[in-house]
Amino acid sequence: KTLSASGFHSPERGIIDVLDDVLIEIDAEGVIAAVHRHGDPNYRTIRDARDASGELVTLPAGFYILPGFVDLHVHAPQYPQLGDALDVPLEVWLQKYTFPLEARYQDAAFARRIYGLLVDDLLTNGTTTALYFATIHQEATRALVDICLEKGQRALIGKVAMDNAGECPDYYRDVSAQEALDGTRALIDYVRGHPDNREGRVLPVVTPRFIPSCTDATLEGLGAIARDCGCHVQTHCSESDWEHDYVLARHGMTDTDSLDRFGLLGRRTVLAHANFLTAKDMETVRAREAAIAHCPLSNAFFANAVFPLRTALEKGLHVGLGTDISGGPSASMFENARGAILASRMLQSGVDPNLPRSARSTFGPAQIDFRDAFHIATAGGGVALDLPIGQFTPGCQFDAMLIHADAEKGTVRLFEDRDKGERILQKIIYTASRPNIAATWVGGRKV
Ligand code: GUN
Ligand code: FE
Repeated sequence: KTLSASGFHSPERGIIDVLDDVLIEIDAEGVIAAVHRHGDPNYRTIRDARDASGELVTLPAGFYILPGFVDLHVHAPQYPQLGDALDVPLEVWLQKYTFPLEARYQDAAFARRIYGLLVDDLLTNGTTTALYFATIHQEATRALVDICLEKGQRALIGKVAMDNAGECPDYYRDVSAQEALDGTRALIDYVRGHPDNREGRVLPVVTPRFIPSCTDATLEGLGAIARDCGCHVQTHCSESDWEHDYVLARHGMTDTDSLDRFGLLGRRTVLAHANFLTAKDMETVRAREAAIAHCPLSNAFFANAVFPLRTALEKGLHVGLGTDISGGPSASMFENARGAILASRMLQSGVDPNLPRSARSTFGPAQIDFRDAFHIATAGGGVALDLPIGQFTPGCQFDAMLIHADAEKGTVRLFEDRDKGERILQKIIYTASRPNIAATWVGGRKV
């Protein structure tokens, strides 16, 4: 199939590549084989040939393709709580609201119903890849795998490991390190052996919830599993001052260092939040080529800090964007991209007008713009996951969304005489909402 379309992608930080009337050739596996630009010498010839053979799909004016969003941090079971329970600190929120909700996924029928609604909602919002925390439960987590495969979403899914009786309630934890490790291995086998997963659209993830939830035996065992299986790892790291201090008190080092010594910090590790990383921690994350899932909306409620996104990007760390459903109250990556921009601007200017101007921000340049936000929501997520997604480059999967820039149907209003080039993308980033997303593709197929 060959798509004749206009759109945008950001293969590298700071760069918006405007695709103005290009041909995207997609092979039978859903991989981008070539991108021909309007000015290329063979553009006309290829277009006419594809048109004659009936392979050409031409998108009308007013429609733009963007890479599908990569949501780097989602708690699938917390979807019923989206937009709710935002009134208490993290450690209270877990015990009061979140663990009781997650415990309900003991009921696999409940899990199937909620997970079906969530995956539909994310796909409709343009999220073509999601990195999911599930729950401790085997059957419910397998249901999430099945649903992603059925609905065609690219997904990385972890059975949550949490066995520390000191921090996890009796009604919701792995009863032993052995159970946490066996459950993790069982999910890896289930995902890799799934008859509908030959393309590897769903991948398994080693998922210690965070250090406070896990015993050292579990952390050590999960590190060994990650090494043996070569799979992705995800966890929360240095999210709040409480969490950061807890690990310092228990392990006598930062959680970054502690994860590292357990073998849980590698090229395929995604650390959610990472707000309290020290300069040395950042250097460790960079050296290991691990990634950070920046969750700006969630951080506003639970972090007691603002993640220094620009610093992390300038140091060359891999960073993607996450909704952190339901720590963040929106499933929309557009809203989270806007949240990332707003948070960065507030960090830059400081937030207390009573301080002298020179003391309002101690952070130096912190501000990012729509280009960085778009990059981390797409290609940055692909790099973080070490997967060929998030950009329209030959060799990458054709995972995309179609934006209808129409003020009657949605919330993007373009004026033909003034909105040109990357300014169109700027308007899309700042104003698009779900009704503007006319279609999504994963691996070349409409979902
Ligand atoms: N830390 C441990 N568990 C969680 C969770 O479910 N959400 C967030 N935001 N932080 C966590
Ligand atoms: Fe989280």
